[in-house]
Amino acid sequence: MFETLKTATLDKIFVLMAEYANDAREGKIDLGVGVYKDPKGTTPIMSAVKKAEQKMLATASTKTYKGVVGNREFSSAVVDLALGTAVDKARVRCVNGAGGTGALSILMNVLARARPLGRIFISDPSWPNHWPMAELAGLTPHYHPYFDPKTRGVDFAGMMGVLDTLTSNDIVLLHGCCHNPTGASLTRAQWDAVTESLKRTGAFPLIDLAYLGFGDGLEEDAYGVRKVVANVPEAMVAFSASKNFGLYRERAGVAIAIAKDSAAADVVSSQMQNVIRATISQTPDHGAEIVRLILEDKDLRAEWEKELTEMRERMKRLRVKLADAIRQRSNSSDFDFIADHTGMFSLLGLPEAVVSKLKLEDGVYMINDSRINVAGIPEDRIGELADKMLAALR
Ligand SMILES: Cc1ncc(COP(=O)(O)O)c(C=O)c1O
Repeated sequence: MFETLKTATLDKIFVLMAEYANDAREGKIDLGVGVYKDPKGTTPIMSAVKKAEQKMLATASTKTYKGVVGNREFSSAVVDLALGTAVDKARVRCVNGAGGTGALSILMNVLARARPLGRIFISDPSWPNHWPMAELAGLTPHYHPYFDPKTRGVDFAGMMGVLDTLTSNDIVLLHGCCHNPTGASLTRAQWDAVTESLKRTGAFPLIDLAYLGFGDGLEEDAYGVRKVVANVPEAMVAFSASKNFGLYRERAGVAIAIAKDSAAADVVSSQMQNVIRATISQTPDHGAEIVRLILEDKDLRAEWEKELTEMRERMKRLRVKLADAIRQRSNSSDFDFIADHTGMFSLLGLPEAVVSKLKLEDGVYMINDSRINVAGIPEDRIGELADKMLAALR
């Protein structure tokens, strides 16, 4: 059997993580892996999460199956958090996903049933998992322009040049906020224009919402997703609780479908449940229940929002400090974009040889395409990091 198989390529990030772990140098810097890090370089359990877990431990009485749709109260709290009052809840149906990836996978599988081999347009570049996930589900991925390597901002004209040509058979995968890997995210005016384009063409929006609260705030980051769902008849949203609740390994996410009316929503819901049943049958509940307990409890929610705000402000501060340090040393505004980007990542636009030099000579790790995780920047060594980056560029 296995003789017919070839070795599959793994996401490059796993190779980089292994290289970093095996690097014995003191003072190595990890800007690669895509998880939030605190000043000590660890990915902490949020205190609101700890408290919710303690509450669960004290009160939970069973581990029996939850049912195919998963934790309904979790889904409903997430819909309120992400969509607010943008859409009539009678048109919304949810199932839990195993993390944001699980949610995306369910949604893509349902879309592939609606449009077998249908075209799905993904930003160039995008989270590296989008493309293979779309293929595995039975869709046909295509890139649309997104990143302008000169300005390190959004090539909005290029993006709209493709979006405006789409038809009602096409799907557009949009990053709800905090674009990964570039950090260059759409402005409100750009979201408005994307919404108008979707209305005109009838193309179907699938919104990946993996970093709500990591950009400018919970409400601010929800602008785009709310704008789109309020203005189109059908849409889907994949919500991840991995980053904003720090629940990575618990795999908490929600697959949200918005249909034209309640009857159509029931059909989509049956399809989402059918996909779950035939793949993992039941989704994990530990992380989902933690999020429910936090969002439904006034005090826990306030504590979570405070912690999330601290994380977001720390990342913003690191951005500003690194951009300042590079500007002072180089006398140029070439890297000011780092402070303008949002979320956890920035694509620096460095040549691969420079990225490799930084890794081999200085122990500074970033993804080959020069994406950095700003949460990994050591605050007390920003000058040193700026020196190393500029030296590698010379
Ligand atoms: C853009 C994007 N979407 C989705 C995910 C999925 O996250 P998870 O499955 O861990 O919830 C990630 C995680 O890195 C991401 O960056």
